[in-house]
Amino acid sequence: MSGDDRVTFHLTLPAEARTCAVHIGAGMLGECGSLVGDLVSGRRAVIVCDSAVVESHARAAAESLTQSGFEAAVIPMHASEAQKSLQSVADLYGAFLDFGLDRSSPVLALGGGIITDTAGFAAATFMRGVPLINVPTTLLGMVDAAIGGKTGVNFPLPGTGALGKNLIGAVHQPIAVIMDVNVLTTLPPRAFRCGLAECVKHALIADPEMLEWMESHTDDLRPQRAADLVSFIARHVEIKSDVVKRDERENGARMLLNLGHTFAHAIETRPELGLEHGEAVALGIVAACAAGERLGVTGSGLRTRLCLLFTGLGLPTCLPSRPLDEEVIASMRSDKKARAGSIRLIIPVDAGIVQVVDDAPEEIIRDALEVIAPSR
Ligand SMILES: NC(=O)c1ccc[n+]([C@@H]2O[C@H](COP(=O)([O-])OP(=O)(O)OC[C@H]3O[C@@H](n4cnc5c(N)ncnc54)[C@H](O)[C@@H]3O)[C@@H](O)[C@H]2O)c1
Repeated sequence: MSGDDRVTFHLTLPAEARTCAVHIGAGMLGECGSLVGDLVSGRRAVIVCDSAVVESHARAAAESLTQSGFEAAVIPMHASEAQKSLQSVADLYGAFLDFGLDRSSPVLALGGGIITDTAGFAAATFMRGVPLINVPTTLLGMVDAAIGGKTGVNFPLPGTGALGKNLIGAVHQPIAVIMDVNVLTTLPPRAFRCGLAECVKHALIADPEMLEWMESHTDDLRPQRAADLVSFIARHVEIKSDVVKRDERENGARMLLNLGHTFAHAIETRPELGLEHGEAVALGIVAACAAGERLGVTGSGLRTRLCLLFTGLGLPTCLPSRPLDEEVIASMRSDKKARAGSIRLIIPVDAGIVQVVDDAPEEIIRDALEVIAPSR
């Protein structure tokens, strides 16, 4: 990976007949004002930000906007899956109205995926849509959540008390994405590792050489080394962008990005397991390999190889306790990717080759769960 210190990538959005610039580099927060000023006519801007990064990062973005002639408001929001809700979106509408946001005024979503999803959905729906700029502050946000235009919130599943992940949402493409790699230095190591799970997913789907690079550089993949990761992040943005470009509305190629996610969504919402999203994705990829082995399409070497890599990156390959198979299967059936209650799996066949399996049999799911959570 070359040591570029700044990359600007133009993401093609065929459905909107435009591109979206993705700026990646060190110190980019200080350039928010000039970058945003070139894109919008309004001179009011709100920054919806993770309350954990108000002083460390949001202030720098706000100052930059002010220096470029914007009147800027910072709206902090607690980043938790419970707060990723319609109530939080309603609170944001209220704050936007208080501030006098109009259709020419941008919303900057500054935080991890929870913030970009929630603030993005508020921007998608306020006054039928206001300009959105994503300013991701987590690795997962940079390589995944901030790219592609998916926004949304969780919604309680009737009668269960559990949260249905991302059940309410909209596709609202940002007008720009600004990534300052310096912000990653304050990211808790666990959150950084969660981003690496999505990077493994991208490499597994589309870039066998990247997978090899990650295998031989596990020690370099740390928040403290973030300034050296511009090219690494840019490549992952490119992989995600290529898939989004081919399928902006998720009718085909984009479903491949759900590799590991059908299992992940079913286990990450179980509080007793205490899993973060990226950890659930790592487990979900291992389970998807195991399902592929049972289906006869995946060689056993791939799972061993990925387990080694996940372990080297500090990600789990085994669940701390076994959830009830029936509950996991029911949750997988109600996943919004499920079709008429049948379970669709994305199966890794080999590095760079994945396959979609519709209507995966229940016993295959049970066997895959047995691999990531052996019965005692
Ligand atoms: N829209 C999409 O395409 C898409 C894709 C992948 C994931 N997601 C969503 O993203 C969410 C997960 O996002 P995430 O992993 O970025 O988690 P997150 O937003 O919860 O952030 C993780 C933790 O890091 C803290 N944090 C964030 N940036 C920080 C920084 N620079 N310094 C210190 N602390 C910081 C947060 O307060 C939080 O505690 C999930 O809700 C998932 O559904 C969306």
